[in-house]
Amino acid sequence: MGTAKIIPNEFIKTLDLEFPKNFYSLDPQQLEKYGKDWTQGFTANAGLVVFPENTQQVSEFLKLCSKHKMAVVPSGGRTGLAAAATAVNGEAILSLDRMNKISEFNFLTQTVRVESGVINEALQEFLQPKNMCWPIELASKGSCTVGGNLATNAGGLRVIRYGHAKQWVLSLQVVLISGEILELNGELHKNNTGYNFCELMIGSEGTLAVITAATLKLTPLIKDRSLFLFAVEDFAQIMQLLSLLRQQQHSILGFEVFNSDCLKIVTEHRSLPQPFAKNYPWNILVELENTAAIENLLELIFEQGLAQDGRRSLNSKEHKLFWDYRECITESLAALGSVFKNDLAFPLGKLHAFINELQTEQKNLYPNAKVFYFGHMGDGNIHINVVKTNAEDPKKFFDDCLQANHSLFSLVKKYGGSIAAEHGIGLLKKDFLCYAKTATEINLMKSIKRQLDPDNLLNPGKIFDL
Ligand code: MLT
Ligand code: ZN
Repeated sequence: MGTAKIIPNEFIKTLDLEFPKNFYSLDPQQLEKYGKDWTQGFTANAGLVVFPENTQQVSEFLKLCSKHKMAVVPSGGRTGLAAAATAVNGEAILSLDRMNKISEFNFLTQTVRVESGVINEALQEFLQPKNMCWPIELASKGSCTVGGNLATNAGGLRVIRYGHAKQWVLSLQVVLISGEILELNGELHKNNTGYNFCELMIGSEGTLAVITAATLKLTPLIKDRSLFLFAVEDFAQIMQLLSLLRQQQHSILGFEVFNSDCLKIVTEHRSLPQPFAKNYPWNILVELENTAAIENLLELIFEQGLAQDGRRSLNSKEHKLFWDYRECITESLAALGSVFKNDLAFPLGKLHAFINELQTEQKNLYPNAKVFYFGHMGDGNIHINVVKTNAEDPKKFFDDCLQANHSLFSLVKKYGGSIAAEHGIGLLKKDFLCYAKTATEINLMKSIKRQLDPDNLLNPGKIFDL
């Protein structure tokens, strides 16, 4: 676990002498703010927070940490849901907030260079007038950073069309704990020269190096799109609908599903109108790139009995409303109090059977809670959010949910699933890594970690304990 609990005087003295004014803060409010991400159940305990303005300062700071065996938690927008950006052992938080420059936009190469503290939405706003986008779209886009998106290999709302963050990176600049700066992959689209360190860093949750900048691949913005909201009685219809869209060769930009409990919570929390005259167990938000065949789609869907109700968004107001039903689920659940997150992935053909079995087991697994089902189901990714409904201590609720993970993850394994589709492992799921990886794989990961960070200073205790 983390080695640094008390900040040595000499460490602070060096910061005062050799780093710019305002480089670090010991202010308890700042330590509380920067000491944790959106994940509930962990208490922030950060030693200090630093705010480098450039890669050289990151390098100098990591050298200092190496010298003093000071543990470091790299920190982006802190929207993570697996506590990978949480300091629980007096670590130094390395915030990338001030490294937020966007440069070198290039039409020829379809790339842009960004520092890792750039907010995802700020990047999209920069690219929009150029009719381009970096297609990693997340409900947390207003706060999450590109560096965090890369450190966690973020997924989100467009994976069905574009894949995860790692597919949209050309090169990375990272700083090792020794302070050495590496430029990984140059500006090359083709570079088969052995192990790919750029890919290794993406999704490593800040445990191998600090990502300071990246050259991102871009794609043209699709403007001509149609958004539909469907309501269905039976989960089986969801996969039938997806299958129909694929048979019809529609280009799918989003395929999101949420159950009626999610819709109820969002409409209440956000005071939004009900989309349909009646409530149905499942709602599906489908976004398609326009094609000529789209006009007949609703007809076909109802003819085949694939939905009980459905609407096409007719203007930008409705477009926003439909997306709000889905994107506001996390914040609406958070407003209810204690929420325990699960982020599971399944082969598409097994998702329904898993949900059926979980719904049968649900009361035994979570006796004092309500369970909300939603997610990027076109990717086989379901977020099972468990919300405390009684007056018991939140800590007990959290511990009970962790205990229930053993049964839940055994079920996930039975259906060939993953315990972390897109949120990562962090602190939240490290005790359950054995449900996702074999002992050999875990040992290989540990040996890579030891090679790059022999003193276990970079985000120690995340993903696994050494
Ligand atoms: C989302 O897709 O909204 C989040 O990844 C899920 C969550 O908050 O559990
Ligand atoms: Zn998600």
